[in-house]
Amino acid sequence: MGHVRIICHEWVVLALVLAGGLAACAQTADQAWLGRSGYHGPSDIPLFAKAFGTGIVEKAAENEIYREIRNLSLASSGDSFGSINGRIILGTPKELQRAFPDLAIPGDLEPEEYWLQWAQHNGHPFLVIVGADERGVLYGAFAVLRTLAEDKDLHFSGLRSHPAMPIRWVDEWDNPDGSIERGYAGRSIFFEGGNVREDLAPVAEYARLLASVGINGVNVNNVNAAPQLLDADHLKQLARIADAMRPWGVRLALSVDIASPQKIGGLATYDPLDPAVRAWWKAKAGEIYELIPDFGGFTVKADSEGQPGPASYGRTPADAANLLAAALESHGGVVLYRAFVYNHHLDWRDPKADRARAAYDIFHPLDGKFAANVIVQIKEGPIDFQAREPVSPLFAGLEKSSAAMELQITQEYTGQQRHLVYLAPMWKQVLDFDLRAGGRSTPVKEIIAGKSFHRSLGGIVGVACVGRDGWRGSPLALANLYAFGRLAWDPNLSPDEIAAEWTRQTINNDPDVVATVTKMLMQSWPAYVNYTGPLGMQTLTDITGSHYGPNIESSENNGWGQWHRADKDGVGMDRSVATGTGFAGQYPPEVAKLYESVATTPDELLLFFHHVPYTYKLHSGKTVIQYIYDSHYEGAEQAAELAREWATLEGRIDQPFYEQIRDRLVYQAGHAIVWRDAIVQYFLRLSGIPDEKGRAGHYPGRLEAEDAKLTGYKIIDVNPWEDASGGKAVSCAEKSCAAEWTFAGTAGRYDIAVQYFDLQGGAAHFTLKVNGKPAATWAADATLPSRRPHGDNSTRRTVQNMELKSGDVLRVEGVPDGADPASLDYIEVTPAT
Ligand code: GCU
Repeated sequence: MGHVRIICHEWVVLALVLAGGLAACAQTADQAWLGRSGYHGPSDIPLFAKAFGTGIVEKAAENEIYREIRNLSLASSGDSFGSINGRIILGTPKELQRAFPDLAIPGDLEPEEYWLQWAQHNGHPFLVIVGADERGVLYGAFAVLRTLAEDKDLHFSGLRSHPAMPIRWVDEWDNPDGSIERGYAGRSIFFEGGNVREDLAPVAEYARLLASVGINGVNVNNVNAAPQLLDADHLKQLARIADAMRPWGVRLALSVDIASPQKIGGLATYDPLDPAVRAWWKAKAGEIYELIPDFGGFTVKADSEGQPGPASYGRTPADAANLLAAALESHGGVVLYRAFVYNHHLDWRDPKADRARAAYDIFHPLDGKFAANVIVQIKEGPIDFQAREPVSPLFAGLEKSSAAMELQITQEYTGQQRHLVYLAPMWKQVLDFDLRAGGRSTPVKEIIAGKSFHRSLGGIVGVACVGRDGWRGSPLALANLYAFGRLAWDPNLSPDEIAAEWTRQTINNDPDVVATVTKMLMQSWPAYVNYTGPLGMQTLTDITGSHYGPNIESSENNGWGQWHRADKDGVGMDRSVATGTGFAGQYPPEVAKLYESVATTPDELLLFFHHVPYTYKLHSGKTVIQYIYDSHYEGAEQAAELAREWATLEGRIDQPFYEQIRDRLVYQAGHAIVWRDAIVQYFLRLSGIPDEKGRAGHYPGRLEAEDAKLTGYKIIDVNPWEDASGGKAVSCAEKSCAAEWTFAGTAGRYDIAVQYFDLQGGAAHFTLKVNGKPAATWAADATLPSRRPHGDNSTRRTVQNMELKSGDVLRVEGVPDGADPASLDYIEVTPAT
């Protein structure tokens, strides 16, 4: 690539470079995609920018352009700077029209829309960024910078873009003590020790990051809401968060506990129809808006998973939602009332009981009863953010109410950011799904945009749960946050296009790198579905525990209702109208018909809707059981492939970054084997039907710990049994222990995988020895769920390319530490790769 061609005043650049003294260790948006590390090439970009408005959001847009110019100037060589002959001007139509009456600014810009155009003024080129309002200006600025970072054509000619829907929020599930429910990236950026943190610099950076992809609201606290956040002192603290985010056009919202009038207000009741309760909320809303004039509104989880709710008084969700809506209405606030309301004490023996039905059963009859500023927030699927679910039928069941879709950016059920799982392809399927309400085209994306049923409100909410550990723990997991914002702005974008955009900005612009990373991202969700829960079985994880590793029966025999009904003859939940729970009948007729019959239900959702024998033949011609075997082997292989693809990037990308991701992908490939083996051996035992390819139950080169010559180690049963090879492992209660095997294969080069359990509460040490000589030694010091040997923490360490011959002694020595007993499952000796 050639020189950077920058048009500027030298003094501007100098001032910016000097002003750019870097706050080295702070958590910044630049650590995500705004680092613009992708920038490599030349650009025709004027280096002088001026916002014509005086508001802080426009000022932020202007600053952002300068920040980028500084980055460019740092990235370019000195000789590549030109002299001034252009400007970037920013403003709303009103502000700019006065100064540039000749500009043909469109008169019909929609809220938050931007318009980008080049113009000539006094013989100089001007890049004009017009926003319908301040946010529009900011989003226009970010659109220009994104184009620049991607080395794309900057010659905009009347480019217009507006967001598809007004509500584009993220929800953070942060608790006042600084912990984060379902957060996998460290502690809260908002709270610590019961209060709002002193240092809110990361909050401002987060808002900047969100604004760069058009997100305009953050609900900062857990939906399982701490009522004390509404007291006078905490509201003042929360106002500081709102202040930090305001320059970026990001509004603060709060989750509220519907019982707050009683819990913190001193009232005897929280009955939504009680006048004193109404007065309390009205006064509370007034107090909030005094402090936070642009407050976004309330999110409500009620009558759900133990949260109090209107049902305690025989009232409906509409009564509760309207109570809050009335309090917020005169201030312009909204209520996001969550439809995630269900009974978690269902009778699992009742074949008609079905958690999936709950949202529709409860909310559909209330359609038309919600106040105008209430938005019903519906999880994308009827259960709970599983690896794959059908779309919630409630989207089509609320024609007279505004709706928002809730999806999960934090990877609760999809690998908790330890696994690379790019979720945009899943979200895209949901957004595009045509529910055919009223027999016409009503894709979810148009319903939540308010288009299908002519609603003025609507939107999308992503549960992000960012933390202080690089925002999302894993750098590649940031692609999900990016994609969420981009799809919220424009659900017609394609996930691979978004992946490529993100890669160019975050990693670099090398076409091979962009192609490889995009391919990896696109492969990752199908791979994860394959090795964790195919055919609509949801995620076969530890439902009552970590939601991370495999635990197939944990979803059965309890009231939580995430049942898959696997027994010795078959698997799947009958949700048909004819013989099952009737859930399929909640969809509009065309879709209901599709799911009602086993024959027409797509394979990928078959077991969500039907209970079938293991020998049932899918559309593909495969039996269900064979598909279960095949998909898990394929999924684990796809996970291994991700690591191999990444390896091709060594030397082409930043080396520490390369190594960090490499280690994560190697871990993932190992954990995908844990998943594969757990599910495959479980269904083999349950069904008694062998894998026609002979893999299930046969592991070439595997030497079980329980079969080894043990010194100190004791054999234990692992629970659930499928989480260990053959259900057993060994554990050490001594100072150190050893397991020893004699290699009986032919002479050659081999990889030796050691499968051990990396428990919480200590960092056990392991050494692999061949004929007494150490081949590798390592600490089991990862942070994985569970304090007992489990699929959550079963971990693989592979030592490659070892010379072995028959009779060699392979020995693993384990040294326990704290609560970690150096548990070992097996070793596996396979020909070197
Ligand atoms: C899931 C999640 C909970 C969360 C709940 C919700 O069940 O595991 O932690 O509180 O969803 O969305 O309310």
